Amino acid sequence: MNFKDTLKINSKNHLEIGGVDTVELVNKYSTPLYVMDESYIRSVCRAYKETIAREYGYGNCAYASKAFSCAAIYKVMKEEGMCIDVVSGGEIYTALKAGFDLKNAYFHGNNKLESELELAISNNIGTIVVDNPYEVEMIDEIAKKYNKVQEVLIRSNPGVEAHTHKFIQTANIDSKFGFSIKNGDALNVIKLIKSKANVAFKGLHCHIGSQIFDKNAFKLAVEVMTDYVKKLNDEEGIEVNELNFGGGFAVHYTEEDPKYNVEQYCEYVETLVKALNEAIATKGIKKPYFMIEPGRSIVGEAGITLYSVGNIKDIKGVKKYLAINGGMYDNIRPALYEAKYEALLANRANDKKEEVVTIAGKCCESGDIIIKDIELPKANRGDIIAVMTTGAYCYSMASNYNRNTLPPVVFVRDGKSGIAVKGQTYEDIVRNDIVDVKMD
Ligand SMILES: Cc1ncc(COP(=O)(O)O)c(C=O)c1O
Repeated sequence: MNFKDTLKINSKNHLEIGGVDTVELVNKYSTPLYVMDESYIRSVCRAYKETIAREYGYGNCAYASKAFSCAAIYKVMKEEGMCIDVVSGGEIYTALKAGFDLKNAYFHGNNKLESELELAISNNIGTIVVDNPYEVEMIDEIAKKYNKVQEVLIRSNPGVEAHTHKFIQTANIDSKFGFSIKNGDALNVIKLIKSKANVAFKGLHCHIGSQIFDKNAFKLAVEVMTDYVKKLNDEEGIEVNELNFGGGFAVHYTEEDPKYNVEQYCEYVETLVKALNEAIATKGIKKPYFMIEPGRSIVGEAGITLYSVGNIKDIKGVKKYLAINGGMYDNIRPALYEAKYEALLANRANDKKEEVVTIAGKCCESGDIIIKDIELPKANRGDIIAVMTTGAYCYSMASNYNRNTLPPVVFVRDGKSGIAVKGQTYEDIVRNDIVDVKMD
């Protein structure tokens, strides 16, 4: 458990987040409940921006909003002077609704739809990160229609292999994302961009994977990318004005992972920037605008999910299951890629751990297990389970599987709480359903 100023056990033996007692949160909002510590989110954004300003002086940080997307988070990002990374029309629409200026947005995706590109360009998106030659043709046409010259980066694939789960690796040469810089695909698409009147080549993007603790992987990415910048410059006369190194900074999920405070998280940024400063000096390349796009490390540890213990199934000598009133529909990560979590009893946080249990979701899937074999105090029906580090890729990946309604998302800050996303009702679930299907 990576406790911090805004996440601790209080004198009532309750888990407290953002200055609010989780038991009070449950009394007020019920369970299941996503809780996001807004102060923590803001502190990471500020620290990343300050590190870039101090160590490099020319760049910014984009929040990868796929990690957790809702109108309120875009407002927070706007207030913090952050850029954002968006990957769909839905994320763009939500950001616009929150009053976020798309000038400060990077639009990603390996198959951006024409309608999504039109939504982005017509709303003055700052940068599109190109991932396919056909996309260049579409951008050129749409930008022409709106009398614009659209700035783009290309998503390049430096082939750096980070040690992480294979399902979330994205920068192998065999990846659905990006143009390989090794086999000439990247150069071909840059040339294509340069041949278009309404598309402007700004620079290169890479994202070497997710949940990467090994900082050497980021150093290596800088090495490979700046070699490529030099090559483009020397051999092709192409200038690279921006380098975006994506996200991927790992966070603490379980005791197997290091525990970082906000300053230590900044070491990922420092590693990238120092390697870039060095490369600029030794390779003699022009100083590019520096961008990163972290998602998980901004919101991951800011989030917890609160559940109530329901049925308890004790299979003597085999296993004891605690069933919660949530599961894979609000957190698909354990079922999707065997993600591991820590949990505690939020209403009896410091009680002695007495038994090993498995926390099971309520969905009709035997794989709907949130945590396998965790040591907890002896839990009773009605106890509150807090699953930690659920701020990233839980709400954003949630579904209505089994027609379960999504829990509300509550923001906490300075001892206060407020709803950022209302919980769904059964009426929401059937809103788009048509009972009598009219055939024609
Ligand atoms: C292009 C890109 N940028 C940024 C991110 C954010 O990564 P993370 O949440 O691991 O920081 C991702 C995640 O998949 C990504 O694909």
